[in-house]
Amino acid sequence: MTTDPSTAADGLSELMVQALERLCIDLALAAGRLIRDDRPRHVGVAATKSTDTDVVTVMDQRSEALLHRLIRSARPDDGVLGEEGVDVIGTSGLTWVIDPIDGTVNYLYDIPAYAVSVAVVTGDARTDGAWRPVAGAVCDPCRRVVHHARRGGGAWSRPEPGDGTDHPGAGDPERLTVSSEDRLGRALLATGFGYDPEVRARQAEVLRHVLPQVRDIRRIGSAALDLVRVAEGTVDAYAESGINAWDLAAGWLIVEEAGGLVVGQGSHPGKALTVAAGRGLIEPLRALFQPTRH
Ligand code: IPD
Repeated sequence: MTTDPSTAADGLSELMVQALERLCIDLALAAGRLIRDDRPRHVGVAATKSTDTDVVTVMDQRSEALLHRLIRSARPDDGVLGEEGVDVIGTSGLTWVIDPIDGTVNYLYDIPAYAVSVAVVTGDARTDGAWRPVAGAVCDPCRRVVHHARRGGGAWSRPEPGDGTDHPGAGDPERLTVSSEDRLGRALLATGFGYDPEVRARQAEVLRHVLPQVRDIRRIGSAALDLVRVAEGTVDAYAESGINAWDLAAGWLIVEEAGGLVVGQGSHPGKALTVAAGRGLIEPLRALFQPTRH
């Protein structure tokens, strides 16, 4: 892929963006291996956050600590914003937005659908609409793959090295492309729910209207994996309200680089709404999920 070497993304050189993407991959793989290989037989709940069911496990904390330490040593001037509380303002203009385990409830129950999401963004990562990803990676340790992208470089999946398949050629990345489905009634839609019971009741109400209009829905339990599924075309679309920057930062870029669109109530996805799909589905889906419709 040829890109103007001086302005690959937000004034960063193409070489710099390539190095950032490489670091996203290495970090996501390191934390992915940690949470899979060191998963205790009985995962304990270390703390709860917004509600009693919004849990933090010891492995969320260990994974975030590992990511934070590796980022500080590789990029000491960058900011870091993590789901479990790391919040460092940097001086370089770049911020690492990390989810040490996305799909924590699946992790708790040993359901093999959880991920590590690592992205590096420009702008103010703490304010919806004020940042955008430059590079990102989502490691799916149960499938032993890492999905990744950098702005202008396409979206890719590659097997985790060292799993016995890394003979010549086996580790080659595979390019991702969103599905071409453009009929709402044929669309397989991934979605998710927040932890707050009142929010969940509203989400159920929205789904009452959405469900008869799509092929079916899937609630996989990890927004980052939902987004990479849109990118690889193994679901047609994803929509959810209430998700955070760390759930979406890497997956957003991976979907866009796979030829899809990711929007919110306006052009920027965020807490109010995140919708990801190919070009033919994005507007009908966004309209379906607008709060004024229900
Ligand atoms: C959650 C998952 C889930 C989504 C929730 C997120 P967590 O993140 O991504 O799929 O529906 O909105 O909060 O708590 O597992 O990191």
